[in-house]
Amino acid sequence: MSIPPLRLGVNVDHVATLRNARAGTTPDPVRAALLAIEAGADGITAHLREDRRHIRDDDMARLKREISKPLNFEMAATADMLRISLATKPHAVCLVPERREELTTEGGLDVVGQHNALAPFVARLNDAGIRVSLFISADPSQIEMAAKLKAPVIEIHTGAWCDALVDGKTEKASTEWQRIVDGAKLAQSAGLEVHAGHGLDYKTAQIIAALPQIVELNIGYFTIGEALFVGLAQSVRDMRAAMDRGRKTLQVYL
Ligand code: PXP
Repeated sequence: MSIPPLRLGVNVDHVATLRNARAGTTPDPVRAALLAIEAGADGITAHLREDRRHIRDDDMARLKREISKPLNFEMAATADMLRISLATKPHAVCLVPERREELTTEGGLDVVGQHNALAPFVARLNDAGIRVSLFISADPSQIEMAAKLKAPVIEIHTGAWCDALVDGKTEKASTEWQRIVDGAKLAQSAGLEVHAGHGLDYKTAQIIAALPQIVELNIGYFTIGEALFVGLAQSVRDMRAAMDRGRKTLQVYL
């Protein structure tokens, strides 16, 4: 059986976080995106938050104009974001939950509870030829509802698993890992393309790369942080290498 390729999407939000700390123009997230692509990224992810705390509207427009690889536009399901994404025409839109007071995207989107509100969003984006991805936890009911909503892609939220590993909570980590393994299988059998992301580092990216159902990882914070020490091109190459090492062991799960 041939090994499905595993794409790396580099999230450049936190280059913009640093830029905004001084309200200036550097470091430029678009320059970071171009460099990440040169170093081997297969796509670029950016999250236009309602409060514009990192990526701004003009960043998104420039990313779309200037990068040669697919743009994954993360956003909340609001009328304003729908309008901006339809005007930007990215390759993909990843719908995420958003609360103003959170530090980062803390949990998955509740597609079961918000089915009625989400259905027209997914339909509108599908009609515009934009690939819709739903950022959800690896919960069977959420996965089944994502398929019913006719989103072609889900992104599994890996934050709970990664946090448990970092905190040394081994039992919780193994429960969360099993949920990801089972969820990826269920999603693929429901006809969904499966991505994953949030909180991944070299170690967890290598582990999750061994799941054959997963074809894309979206990684930001750790890669941008590592760039302070080794440079962005090197941190992207190191992440790619970790994923490739993990992918080679994927037979275990076939
Ligand atoms: N995928 C989604 C949908 C996200 O919201 C985020 C965080 O913005 C990521 C991936 C990347 O997470 P991290 O920055 O922790 O690598």
